[in-house]
Parts: sequence; structure tokens; C-alpha cells
Amino acid sequence: MEVQFVNLGLQYKELKEEILEKIDYISSRGSYVLSEEVEDFEKNFAKYCGVKYSVGVGNGSDAIFFSLLSQNIGKDDEIITAPNSFVATAWTIANCGAKIVFSDVGEDYNINPHKIEKLINKKTKAIIPVHLTGKIADMDAISNIAQKHNLIIIEDAAQAVGAKYKDKKAGSFGITGCFSLHPLKNLHVNGDGGVVTTNDKVTYHYLKKIRNHGLVNRDECEFWGYNSRLDSIKAGIANIKLKYLDKWNNRFRQIALYYRNELEDFLEVPKENSFEKPIYHRFIIQYQKRDDLKKFLFEKGIETKINYPIPLHLHPAASDLEYRIGDFPVAEKQAKRILSLPIYAELSDNEVEYVVQCIKHFFK
Ligand SMILES: Cc1ncc(COP(=O)(O)O)c(C=O)c1O
Repeated sequence: MEVQFVNLGLQYKELKEEILEKIDYISSRGSYVLSEEVEDFEKNFAKYCGVKYSVGVGNGSDAIFFSLLSQNIGKDDEIITAPNSFVATAWTIANCGAKIVFSDVGEDYNINPHKIEKLINKKTKAIIPVHLTGKIADMDAISNIAQKHNLIIIEDAAQAVGAKYKDKKAGSFGITGCFSLHPLKNLHVNGDGGVVTTNDKVTYHYLKKIRNHGLVNRDECEFWGYNSRLDSIKAGIANIKLKYLDKWNNRFRQIALYYRNELEDFLEVPKENSFEKPIYHRFIIQYQKRDDLKKFLFEKGIETKINYPIPLHLHPAASDLEYRIGDFPVAEKQAKRILSLPIYAELSDNEVEYVVQCIKHFFK
């Protein structure tokens, strides 16, 4: 048997008719940019996340970048975030001119609130918690710190669409919530895409302008912006898929539960608290001889990945920050031990069972 890490064709097969019909409808009208499809999706997505507004953008990275710019973050500002995220969490901070300040994570892969406060100084403007793997960071503790020190929270919710923490959804805690609609995410638009959520009207209006060159209308530019919109066809696809998202997320959770129950005696598996509902965008296990296990599974036809093998502070791109090996021991240790198992809504029970049997076989 072969088990791919992702198989995007399966979802397309399921929704082919609906998607092609939508593409045909939009194409026949020729309204490819900033159409009512985009507005519909923005309304539906805001409602889904439990916030007032959402703004579609070109990708999840720009969702973060524009959020930072919307809060006037730039030179001389410091932004605290986790060192184990995807590179976009870091470059967006650097590219708006601010300094990245990393803070180590906890056993749940999310920023450890206990380590944040000692990094705060007069220059600190914001915290970007990353809801890594689809599990929301400890937002009660982070919100308390932000409130105490008058800091902004921008959620990197790229991996956490639909995840819940004490009955609130990802994207409803910060001044903005930043989502990726990239093909590897639980909600994707068959290409690049992103969306920002907010309850703040001023931020909402700023985001609508910055994604569209800074234009206030067809002819008048208020400030130099960017061209990074969510295309109408992609918004149409997102509107279709949003209807299925909870069903898919439940399947991710079902698979995760099975993996956890079957594997917890062999490996370190993710834990879940009763007050939260992670969506398991990634199911990450930890094991000392991770590379041996990866190789063994590969030989059995099972594809796995490492999300991510190099912590952000150790990339050449971060060399100006002068971090060293050992600065973030938890993130660094995890980077050597983590392994992402295949998990997606279309994965069959047989395939999941096969992954589990092969891992058990490895330990025999
Ligand atoms: C945690 C995190 N932040 C940001 C991004 C960037 O999103 P995009 O690839 O849509 O630009 C991603 C997606 O890969 C991500 O996983």
C-alpha cells in the first residue's frame, strides 16, 4: 500500500462539478477581480470565525504583512513570535522594518506564555502567536500579557481555520487573524490565497485598500499599497468549500484521535485539553530516532514530512539577529524529533490503520 502525505486530487474529484460550475459562472460574467464572490466569501468567513469583518488577500503571508502595516508597525518596533513556525511569520516582520524577537515554545509547539514577559521592553509593539498544527495558542495567558503591557496581538492562524479555544474560533482573539488558503491548508482555494479577520472597522478599511494598491476608488490612491487580492474564482471556490470545512475538520480530528490512542505507548503524541478543539492541520509525533522511523515508513510506502526541520532563528536569513544554537532549547529539540504523519479528510480508514500498523511494526 502507498500512503501519500497529501492527495489534493481526491478533494477535487469530490467537488469537481460544483467547482467547474462556479468557474463557468464567474468566467461567463467576466468578473474576475473584487467581485460579489469575494464579498460573499468575506461575509461568510467572518461569520464562520465569529468576527465582524474579513478581507480576502493574495496569500497568508500578505495577511500577516498587511496586518503588521495596518498597525503602523515598522522601524524601531519589536515583535515577539515563535521560532518554530513557517518562514512567513518571520519575513513579514522583517520586511515591514521591525525586529523579530523569538520566544521559545512549549510542549504543544505554541509560544510559551511564561517566557514572553522578560522579552518585553519599550520597543515591543506586538505578539504574533502562531496556532501551529491547528491548535490555538494559550490565548488567555497571551491576552493577559498583551493587555498588561499594551501590546497588539496578531494571530498567525494560517494552520488553524475552524480551531476552537474555549468556544472562540481562531482569528477572533487578536486585532487581526491571518489565514492561509494555500493548497496544503484545511480550507484551500486550489492555488494561493489568504484572508484576514478583524473586529476593528479602521483596520478593516485599511486592509481593503492596502491589498488593492492603496486605492480608495478606481482612480484615487490614498497611499502606496500592494496588488494582493483574493481572485473571484478562488473566492468562489472558498465559498463552496467553507460549507464542507467542519465535516473535513471533524475527519482530521477523528484520524488524530485514532493515531493518538494507537500510538501513545510508542511515541510522543499531541495532547488535547477539554477546553479546546484543535483541527490537526498537522499530526506531529516525536521520537528520538525520527530519521530511522521516517526511512522505515518510506520503505513501507508511507510519506511523512518534517514541519519544520530548521528553527527560524537558525536560518541564514536570520543571521543579523545573532541568535545561536541553544537559544531556544525546546524548539531546537523538537526540530530534531518531530515527524508529521499523513492526515487529510480523504485519507481512508485502511490507510490510517496501515500507518499505525507500520509504526507498531517498526517498534517490534
Ligand atoms: C504558520 C504559517 N504562517 C504563514 C503561512 C503563509 O501562508 P501562505 O503560504 O499562504 O503565504 C503559512 C503557510 O504556509 C503557515 O503555515
